[in-house]
Amino acid sequence: MSDTPAKSHGRLSIRPTARPRELMSDRPKLAGAWTAQVITLLPDAFPGVLGHSLTGKALDDALWQLETVDLRMFGEGKHRNVDDTPAGGGAGMVLRADIVAKAITHAQRGRPKDRAQWPLVYLSPRGKPFDQAMAQRFSATQGITLLCGRFEGLDERVIEHFGIEEVSLGDFVLTGGEIAAQALIDATVRLIPRVLGNQASVEEESFSTGLLEHPHYTKPALWEGREIPDILLSGHHAKIADWRQAEAERLTKERRPDLWRAYRAKHGRDPDGDQEL
Ligand SMILES: C[S@@+](CC[C@H](N)C(=O)[O-])C[C@H]1O[C@@H](n2cnc3c(N)ncnc32)[C@H](O)[C@@H]1O
Repeated sequence: MSDTPAKSHGRLSIRPTARPRELMSDRPKLAGAWTAQVITLLPDAFPGVLGHSLTGKALDDALWQLETVDLRMFGEGKHRNVDDTPAGGGAGMVLRADIVAKAITHAQRGRPKDRAQWPLVYLSPRGKPFDQAMAQRFSATQGITLLCGRFEGLDERVIEHFGIEEVSLGDFVLTGGEIAAQALIDATVRLIPRVLGNQASVEEESFSTGLLEHPHYTKPALWEGREIPDILLSGHHAKIADWRQAEAERLTKERRPDLWRAYRAKHGRDPDGDQEL
């Protein structure tokens, strides 16, 4: 377990002897760098997969920052207890409101109070489903505080008291909020300018246009008797763009009728038919 409640990750935390004075505090700040602050019982689970590949490089390059807040450090008694049995009985344990509140208050010190600039989110299966639009919104903030639940979840009163936004990764139940937090951070960080080498790829991806993405192909030209569609080898850029758009529309219509209806409505077409409005 870490001996301080907050621990930063990335470039700023791996050069302890060379850090300037400001960065030697428990709460190093880098002006302008989007910051993910994660309140968790498993701080060692971070940065996890976020420390690899493009998000890891961007973390090293200080294009974003990660800070974990160890919930256990706010626990009570010899064992630093953070949970207790559910009021009214039933299985499992519930994270205590008073303990979680102390961690949130600690995490929020010195951060913007405006939730539009710094959302406070509890990863929860009861939350609003996470989507690309939410990732866009979060990527335009200064940072975010993410609260990872464990056991049966959080005492409801702390959610109400702080007006916490609940966000779900999907209609399934995870053991804890850490994997959900990492997924949310990954989807958000890759939208921050310069994190991906090629910003155009973000704009063309699934959901950015309201459609699922078209299929991709690469070498070899023939594999297991399957060829790359001729049009993609034609060098005719306008026709390739038309083919990709048609494929994106076909896949969306087949696989995600909900997205297809929204896309048609957004483009002034009857959501339920093929006729122009
Ligand atoms: C075992 S779950 C609690 C489930 C809760 N008792 C319920 O039935 O809704 C423990 C923690 O995992 C996280 N979690 C589980 N499923 C999730 C999901 N689909 N999206 C986001 N977080 C989730 C939450 O932080 C939650 O507090």
